[in-house]
Amino acid sequence: MSGSGYGDRGNKDRSITRPGGGTMRVGTASGVHPLPRDDTAPFLIGERMTGGYGKGADILHDCTIGVDPGEIAVIVGPNGAGKSTAMKAVFGMLDLRGGAVRLEGEDITALSPQDRVARGMAFVPQTSNIFTSMTVEENLEMGAFLRRDDIRGTMAQVYDLFPILKDKRRQAAGELSGGQRQQVAVGRALMTQPRVLMLDEPTAGVSPIVMDELFDRIIEVARTGISILMVEQNARQALEIADKGYVLVQGSNAFTGTGADLLADDDVRRSFLGG
Ligand SMILES: Nc1ncnc2c1ncn2[C@@H]1O[C@H](COP(=O)(O)OP(=O)(O)O)[C@@H](O)[C@H]1O
Ligand SMILES: [Mg+2]
Repeated sequence: MSGSGYGDRGNKDRSITRPGGGTMRVGTASGVHPLPRDDTAPFLIGERMTGGYGKGADILHDCTIGVDPGEIAVIVGPNGAGKSTAMKAVFGMLDLRGGAVRLEGEDITALSPQDRVARGMAFVPQTSNIFTSMTVEENLEMGAFLRRDDIRGTMAQVYDLFPILKDKRRQAAGELSGGQRQQVAVGRALMTQPRVLMLDEPTAGVSPIVMDELFDRIIEVARTGISILMVEQNARQALEIADKGYVLVQGSNAFTGTGADLLADDDVRRSFLGG
């Protein structure tokens, strides 16, 4: 596939594309791009990322993932495919040997994770994403530690989104159920008032009902204009709410399309969704 048509935003991309296809464009080697707006480039994109951990072998191979404002982009794929690694790469926790990460067209590949937080990126990692010995409210306050303004409004929004956290705000986060802990982790990330929320398996270990509830809250967050980039092992359910989906296999893009496209694709269903 060559590039999709003009004005075709990611969430309307009808094609299921193989590596290198679709709307992705090859980046230039130079660092800062002064271009303020490019309506075809995703808001956040890790483009053709290649790299691994330390001096080890590459885990990511030309891997591209991206998301637009208000959109939910979902990354699925087998265990060990490099989903978490791709998220870490986009968040600046990996030294890339190739490719680039761009936010609003600006090359942020060299920025530290902290600097990316300051630019509006928030990341909830797969594990150790809360402080278990601190109270729920202290966790939320920790999320806002970079802020110098009044955080009470944001905290009220988080409690509106997750009312149970308000009830339990004085309890140690470690005493909460798995689903509630994930709410704390998401809430803590929201305290930075991010423009992009990155979630690595937010529904790991929770019941189907709790998963549905969490997905509903994530949709609510996306409707406020925040971009959601998330890894999910519940592939079918996640693709149902995805504007954009990426199937990663062995560190590479195997399939890319809208969530609906991927769910309808025979190869994707057979190989990754259990038929
Ligand atoms: N911190 C690390 N150091 C070295 N290798 C790692 C590290 N984390 C993950 N890997 C390796 O990277 C590959 C991809 O892992 P990961 O990104 O966690 O996959 P996924 O999230 O899709 O299950 C695996 O082979 C894994 O062993
Ligand atoms: Mg993972």
